[in-house]
Amino acid sequence: MAEPDFSLIEPLEPSPGAWLDKVLADFDCFLADHASCEKKASGMAMSMASHYPDKPELLSAMADLAVEELSHYREVIRLMLQRGVSPTPDTKDAYVNALNRLVRKGTDVFLMDRLLLGAIVERRGAERFACIAAAVTDPMLQKFYQAIAASEARHWTLFYTLAWNHCDQQDVADRFQALTTIEAQIMLDLPYRAALH
Ligand SMILES: [Fe+2]
Ligand SMILES: [Fe+2]
Repeated sequence: MAEPDFSLIEPLEPSPGAWLDKVLADFDCFLADHASCEKKASGMAMSMASHYPDKPELLSAMADLAVEELSHYREVIRLMLQRGVSPTPDTKDAYVNALNRLVRKGTDVFLMDRLLLGAIVERRGAERFACIAAAVTDPMLQKFYQAIAASEARHWTLFYTLAWNHCDQQDVADRFQALTTIEAQIMLDLPYRAALH
């Protein structure tokens, strides 16, 4: 697949320190939410794979991604079990729901928006996991979140690259910039929780 020039993409609005404070104040609660996010990410990749059996690069990438996200889920669950933390029921993710409402109807734009919102959510995840890696003192947790951050950073560039290769490239660049601006506002307007979003 052709590679876009990522240096042309505008930087991400940083997550506020107040969000990180909430996470560090109740890390067990954050872990339960993190597990749930990984499980949902795997499900989302499987749903993308099912919807586009006619696009081999996308299908193959989503099949790989579903497995990788599920292995993240397994790693977070192991971490929770080690710490004696019980999983909690999945809750509504106001951030993801607000972003999903931005998906436009129409075959081409629907695919573009789903891929670009995938990129947006993964990019925010990568940024937030890196913040956590930098803030935790336990070396095991630090290593774990560094690895997760690197993995989610690969995912956002994967989603963007897939959009770049399946849709009009100028439209992809413009739409990503617009969605990035909207995402920053959504992220800043939501209450901060001991959760990924
Ligand atoms: Fe993940
Ligand atoms: Fe991911």
